[in-house]
Amino acid sequence: MRFEQAQRIKNLPPYLFARIERLIEEKKAAGVDIISLGIGDPDQPTPEHIIEELIKEARNPANHQYPSSAGMLSYRQTVADWYARRFGVHLDPRTEVVTLIGSKEGIAHISWCYLNPGDTVLVPDPGYPVYAGGAILAGAEPYYMPLKAERGYLPDLSAIPTEVARRAKMMFINYPNNPTGAVADESFLAEVVAFARDFNILVCHDAAYSEITFDGYRAPSFLQVPGAKEVGIEFSSVSKPFNMTGWRIGWAAGCAEVIEALGRLKSNLDSGQFQAIQYAAMAGLNGPREVIDRVNALYRERRDILVDGLNSLGWRLEKPKATFYVWAPVPAGYTSESFAEMVLEKAAVVITPGTGYGPNGAGYFRMSLTIDTARIKEAVERIKKNLGSVRF
Ligand SMILES: Cc1ncc(COP(=O)(O)O)c(C=O)c1O
Repeated sequence: MRFEQAQRIKNLPPYLFARIERLIEEKKAAGVDIISLGIGDPDQPTPEHIIEELIKEARNPANHQYPSSAGMLSYRQTVADWYARRFGVHLDPRTEVVTLIGSKEGIAHISWCYLNPGDTVLVPDPGYPVYAGGAILAGAEPYYMPLKAERGYLPDLSAIPTEVARRAKMMFINYPNNPTGAVADESFLAEVVAFARDFNILVCHDAAYSEITFDGYRAPSFLQVPGAKEVGIEFSSVSKPFNMTGWRIGWAAGCAEVIEALGRLKSNLDSGQFQAIQYAAMAGLNGPREVIDRVNALYRERRDILVDGLNSLGWRLEKPKATFYVWAPVPAGYTSESFAEMVLEKAAVVITPGTGYGPNGAGYFRMSLTIDTARIKEAVERIKKNLGSVRF
């Protein structure tokens, strides 16, 4: 039997790393000890007080039934209180916050609310693949906004052709940024608000890394920019700040009309997140800030070991102010893929080719700081020993 797939599934881009994955499997099968700097998933445990809250609430039968798909009001109130404390942003928890099963869920689904087949959506390139993926599933066409090193990986809004801007219905942006580690200040976000107003574009800001910052830097919220709430929403979650990627809980906040549409779509798709998990996330958001500061200190230490170690070999890595990613150009004579394959072949270290994040990721690679510090040190040593002659 052969079942014809829907066009929307056929339209999804092919998986890019088949070759490198095969190499990794071959090496593992041969008993090689691979160090992976490829996966961006916090390695530290979820803080104890959050786990305790889950256990307590999991024992409460009142939490064992279907939750509401928009999330408990107390969870949405907690998100609103956190925005007020952290950013000075006022949100109405009833109309301006919706609970998500991880921010990825909302990022993928928002396109279904606003994009018809053939519509245009502005997507950062390189970028988190779900922006384009969700849009393609809705039948829309991504227009890629290049993020260039010389512009600090901020899109040049003035370079978007006027007819494209007029056609575009939505725009995704993401700061602090995956994969580049770049940050955006409020003046750039204000530029986005003005652009969105001019062209009637819904802005979806992905703030998944807002709390993973270093060296005194504090990331702004898109929603703190005057007028932002009229033109857009912000996605975020407890995944990165509280090492809770597996728990699957996040939110979207901002423009009430958009939050209502996303909530309505979700009420037809899912039945919300387990209430005990909502309580646990509340314990994180209401709990001590030190748990975030501690994990950020760890990422900063690893960042410095990796960047200083490799730069001592003549590599040209910059220290990101935020996120747990280091993004850098490959040496002359290599492509993203050939460099990643060479590093794997010679040093048994996995790095991610930049092309996995879009065409403008070509010529770059990404390394993640979410593995044990000793393994990062070892990766640097292996690269020093086996790749010392590579010239950048
Ligand atoms: C840029 C970005 N946004 C969103 C997410 C999704 O996070 P979650 O669904 O766990 O909230 C990720 C996860 O890696 C990410 O890198």
